[in-house]
Amino acid sequence: MGGGLAILRADEIRALKGLRRIAVLTAYDYPMALALDQVGLEVLLVGDSLGEVELGFDSTRAVSVPMMEHHIRAVANGAIHTHITGDMPARSYDTPADALRTAQALVRAGAHSVKLEGAMIPAVQAIIGAGIPVMGHVGLLPQTTEGGYRRHGKTADEADRLVEDACALDDAGCFAIVVECVDPEAALRITQSVGAPTIGIAAGSDCDGQVLVSTDLIGLLPDPPPFVVPRANVRDIIRGAAAEFAADVRAAAAPPVTGARRS
Ligand code: KIV
Repeated sequence: MGGGLAILRADEIRALKGLRRIAVLTAYDYPMALALDQVGLEVLLVGDSLGEVELGFDSTRAVSVPMMEHHIRAVANGAIHTHITGDMPARSYDTPADALRTAQALVRAGAHSVKLEGAMIPAVQAIIGAGIPVMGHVGLLPQTTEGGYRRHGKTADEADRLVEDACALDDAGCFAIVVECVDPEAALRITQSVGAPTIGIAAGSDCDGQVLVSTDLIGLLPDPPPFVVPRANVRDIIRGAAAEFAADVRAAAAPPVTGARRS
């Protein structure tokens, strides 16, 4: 099971291909990281999805390097037993020098590896060359996608291109590759073509692992994406607790106190 006492290194995660499936969830803050540490996840991804699901922006493109550093620090304080991958924000890896600077900042904040979108091979090489492991990402690339999300790899040409991109990332040394919103047959082709484990999201069940946005998994936000079946309804639990508290306050009943508040 993942999440034992020793943090999995990137090369150990890569070596899991064909041995066991890899479970990845996003985490953005300290309480969530504490809750998700040592539950059997191989990786916690501090995804730039935090722009949308944590900060309420309408795209991931508004996320900056300092924002990622801030959230990675919080996750690293809580998840002390789990491999943490930090997402490189849009426009922060346009050149190999930028890429290396960003990756080093995210590692200083507490990430064990970084993720970037697309077949940005010179950027990947610069980061890996400096000893920082990289997770690749093919298929739907939210940082550069304009106007709505669609399934990728449905035509033979598009599937060929995705396989080419994934192979280039694999050859450059990525330890895992996210395959997002890809036709399941194309996702299987990618999985069979690369040595790195593929981590699917909305890409069928044949990838080497799966990743989900944790707020979708636990039902924290209204309107989860259609491919996610939430496994809890945390939003209703929070609203219920808050409404009960408000009603108690209005009825002048003191809320139960079990000890002093932490300073
Ligand atoms: O930012 C993110 O959370 C991601 C995952 C959806 C893979 O990139």
